[in-house]
Amino acid sequence: MTSHGGRAAVPRHVAIIMDGNGRWAHARGLPRSAGHRKGVEALRTAVQAAGEMGVSYLTIFSFSSENWSRPPSEVSFLLDLMRHFVRQDVAELDRANVRIRIIGERRGLAADIVALIEETEERTRANTGLTLVVAFNYGSRQEITAAARGLAFAVREGRVAPESITPELFGSFLETDGIPDPDLLIRTSGEQRLSNYLLWQCAYTELVFVDEYWPDFSRETLERAIAEYQTRERRFGGLQAQSA
Ligand code: FPP
Repeated sequence: MTSHGGRAAVPRHVAIIMDGNGRWAHARGLPRSAGHRKGVEALRTAVQAAGEMGVSYLTIFSFSSENWSRPPSEVSFLLDLMRHFVRQDVAELDRANVRIRIIGERRGLAADIVALIEETEERTRANTGLTLVVAFNYGSRQEITAAARGLAFAVREGRVAPESITPELFGSFLETDGIPDPDLLIRTSGEQRLSNYLLWQCAYTELVFVDEYWPDFSRETLERAIAEYQTRERRFGGLQAQSA
């Protein structure tokens, strides 16, 4: 049961903040890049496990708008990892009936990355299994600001009447239009904050923080996070369901 007030079954939409690659590597005396590489393996595990457990949408934070402030060598490593991930994994994800959507700012990205993003979305558009939403060059405030701008243009052009603006209409201007809000958000590495991730969409999302660094994320980590989610009573601002 996933209805309001009830105990939830498997969450329809799980969002993940994959944190701790650098610390995982540091703890082993390895370069940070080794942590990111291992992080890609953990990502493969997470996608497969989520699909098998019956999750319909998995949204991952792969590169934030703020990650550009890292040293140039790390930024270019992460961009190369993204290129590599797309080239290596998309064919297999496509075969597994996974639909891939990429959210985040495309302006300013290298032309080859934009082309890869577009090809990936196009290639997997008709798939009907798990939807993997990759947040890349993504920041929630930037997304919300862009939505406000789009809405302002729509009002100025007479396509939207100001009094008709509702949360639902506003949400349709976000990049996540058509994707249900996350039921469960998991952040690894023990950090407990949202870091500009899906701020609008997570209004009623259950937050679960796990201590493992992202490269150690396993099927069992996901199962534990979902089990924790299933103990939560979701009220969406209403009253707790009580026995009479
Ligand atoms: C957080 O660890 C992780 C990132 C900033 C990048 C996440 C990317 C991956 C897991 C691999 C990417 C997948 C694709 C598709 C590119 P951190 O570097 O913030 O670790 P730290 O907090 O310990 O320093």
